[in-house]
Amino acid sequence: MLSLRTLLFAALAAVTAASAATVTFDCSRVPNICSNDCYAIRCLGKPTTLTRNSPQAEDNRDANACRSPNRCSGNPSDSNSCDEYPFASTSQGGAGASTRCVPSQENSRQGGTLSSFYTRNSVANGDSYSVAFSNASGLQYCSGSCTNSGNQLVRRLPAFAARQETSIVQTRKLLLASGEEALMFEPVSARGSLNRMVNQTVDLREEAVRVVAVL
Ligand SMILES: *[C@@H]1O[C@H](CO)[C@@H](O)[C@H](O)[C@H]1NC(C)=O
Ligand SMILES: *[C@@H]1O[C@H](CO)[C@@H](O)[C@H](O)[C@H]1NC(C)=O
Repeated sequence: MLSLRTLLFAALAAVTAASAATVTFDCSRVPNICSNDCYAIRCLGKPTTLTRNSPQAEDNRDANACRSPNRCSGNPSDSNSCDEYPFASTSQGGAGASTRCVPSQENSRQGGTLSSFYTRNSVANGDSYSVAFSNASGLQYCSGSCTNSGNQLVRRLPAFAARQETSIVQTRKLLLASGEEALMFEPVSARGSLNRMVNQTVDLREEAVRVVAVL
């Protein structure tokens, strides 16, 4: 039987989820990072709602395959920086994060987007936020096969055998007031939960853009 306490917690969680700020990554600027994020979310079932925990970042990196020195250092400039999802600056990061060698330029772009998002939306440590993607068409892991083409790694050793699971989340399309679109991933266990995004805003190019409809 559901206790009053459980119901209260559920109501509180719903309110929290509804008010979470959303950051949008433009995948035309950070395609490798989007690929890693999509792989983590669609293929490994990592969450799309994250909790900022910047003090944890260093320990998180040390706990996964981005631990320094990592396999990316010394690579050519198209893959010389280790990216991880969930982000190192979140409570969900650390052991089990999906990692990929990306161009350091993409890693600094994404870091810039995330830190200005944190500032603009007053996302403090302990606050939750959601992630969305734009311009992701054509990226394999964002809409196609989860078969690891060799660029995704969770643990350093032994070689990680990827699950090829595509039914954990479904893709929802946000229509934005700017006329553009963004993608969000909705857990199939919570179908319809992203309908709440209608009339909320997402952070895109350092602006708040209203969501007109969720398809
Ligand atoms: C999609 O990419 C184009 C070209 O890079 C860019 O101008 C546009 O702002 C991007 N749209 C979104 C919604 O990110
Ligand atoms: C969104 O805003 C419009 C215009 O203010 C309003 O008519 C509509 O009912 C709102 N929809 C939701 C789901 O809040």
